[in-house]
Order: sequence, then C-alpha cells, then structure tokens
Amino acid sequence: IIPKTEEEIIAYRDTGRIAAEILTTLIDHVKVGASTYEIAKLAEDLIVNKYDAIASCIGQYDFEYALCSSVNDVVCHGVPSKEEILKDGDVVNLDITVRKHGLVSDTSRMYLVGEVSTEAEKLCKVGQECLYKGIAQVKPGNTLGDIGFAIQKHATRNGYTIVREYTGHGIGKEMHEAPEVLHYGKKGKGVKLIEGMTFTIEPMVNQGSRKIEHLEDDWTVVTCDGKLSVQWEHTIVVTKTGVEILTLRDEEKEIAKAYKV
Ligand code: MF3
Ligand code: CO
Ligand code: CO
Repeated sequence: IIPKTEEEIIAYRDTGRIAAEILTTLIDHVKVGASTYEIAKLAEDLIVNKYDAIASCIGQYDFEYALCSSVNDVVCHGVPSKEEILKDGDVVNLDITVRKHGLVSDTSRMYLVGEVSTEAEKLCKVGQECLYKGIAQVKPGNTLGDIGFAIQKHATRNGYTIVREYTGHGIGKEMHEAPEVLHYGKKGKGVKLIEGMTFTIEPMVNQGSRKIEHLEDDWTVVTCDGKLSVQWEHTIVVTKTGVEILTLRDEEKEIAKAYKV
C-alpha cells in the first residue's frame, strides 16, 4: 500500500469533487417515473462532457454503465435498466466512479423516492451514520479494525446487520486496490493507517439478515430475505492528524462537522 504524494492528493481533490458534484446533481433526477437507465446515462454524460473525465465503471470487468443503481433489496452492483422505473417509497443507492488525473474516485449515497416509510428512512440514516462512524476512526496509528468495529457496532445496536462479502478497498490509479476495508472487525487489528493512504469505506447495512445472493445477471446482489439494504460510500485520504473526505458533498457539511471529520 503506497501512500499518495502531496501532489497526487491535490489532483485527487479534483477527481473526488467531480464525483461528489454528480451525486448531488442526480438528486433532482431520482424521482417517481424515472428509469435507472436514464439516470445512468445522465451520469455518464456529466462525467464525460461536463467534467471531461472517464466513467471508469464502464468496461470494469464487463459492466456497461457509469454507475450501479441498487434499489430496495438490492445490496450493491444493481445494473441500470430501461425497465426499472422508480416508484413512490423506493430507496435507491447510486454508486459512481470517476477517473481524472489518472486517479479514480468512488462514492455513493442513498436517494429516497417520494414518500418513504419511517423504517426505510431510519435504515438510510443509520447507514450514513455507520459510514461516518467509520470515517471518524481514520487517523495515523489507528487500524482498519478500528473502522470495521465502529461500523459494525453502530449497525448492531440499531438492530441491523452488516454484509461481509463486499468491502471497501484501497483506491488510486485503479478502482480496486489493496487493502480490503472490512465493515466489521476488532479494535486494534488489521493494517495500521499511515498518512497518504487512500481507500473507500462503503458499508452495506441490511434491515434483516446479512445473507445475500446473486441474480442470474451475475452482477446484482440482493438480500436473501427480501428486506431492504442500504449503502453509503466515500473515498478518503489519511492526513497527518486524521482524515479528509475526497468525495464530500456540500449537503454533508453538517454531518461531517458533527463527526469532527
Ligand atoms: N463502485 C463499486 C465499488 O464501490 C464498484 C463498481 S463495480 C463496476 O467498489 F464494475 F461497476 F465498476
Ligand atoms: Co462504489
Ligand atoms: Co468502492
């Protein structure tokens, strides 16, 4: 795991800002009647034409879209589709990656479509808190285990479960690099964090059992029990004293402040 140089981090801020701005732009487009296909195409257009960047999900393995769209019981890697029309009460994760300056940023958030149930809204909120609890553990000398422990603890105390098969990951020149960033774990265990490391934290939090299965398309991951799953993701860099969120959105200023990150 090679830490980024100061120069790379300066470039990375720009890459991260682009991904963040696009997730914010998409808010107005995630609404009843929209297809996940048209949302993915809009995201691709923004990445390529507005920001002069590369939609690095396209062609990663054999994925064909600029983002993954994971609705309700879809845990992650949902494939955008013209047939998938968003309806009132849906909770949707949009997970986007952007390559610019030779660096990849990776971030996702939940979108609430129309009137969402209280339970679904709470799950979304706790999912975001799990991400921030993890981020708050990031500083030189702490370990990946500290991050996983904090995330798992918050999910569990709210009666939810953490998916184990998918993890956060190192990121930089490639979308997926070492190390794996588990969203569960033991305090003080695992890789020790050092200044300049860049990785994602992206907990998948399930309403019911943590058990998952794959659909025939070999991409879409769903909960076995059909209950909801949520996910929030940021790309972060370890700083001298703590953490910087490279994909922070303006709307998150308050929550970031509350968690002192
Ligand atoms: N954005 C996902 C992640 O958080 C990866 C997407 S897989 C791809 O790791 F094939 F769509 F790129
Ligand atoms: Co992602
Ligand atoms: Co990721």
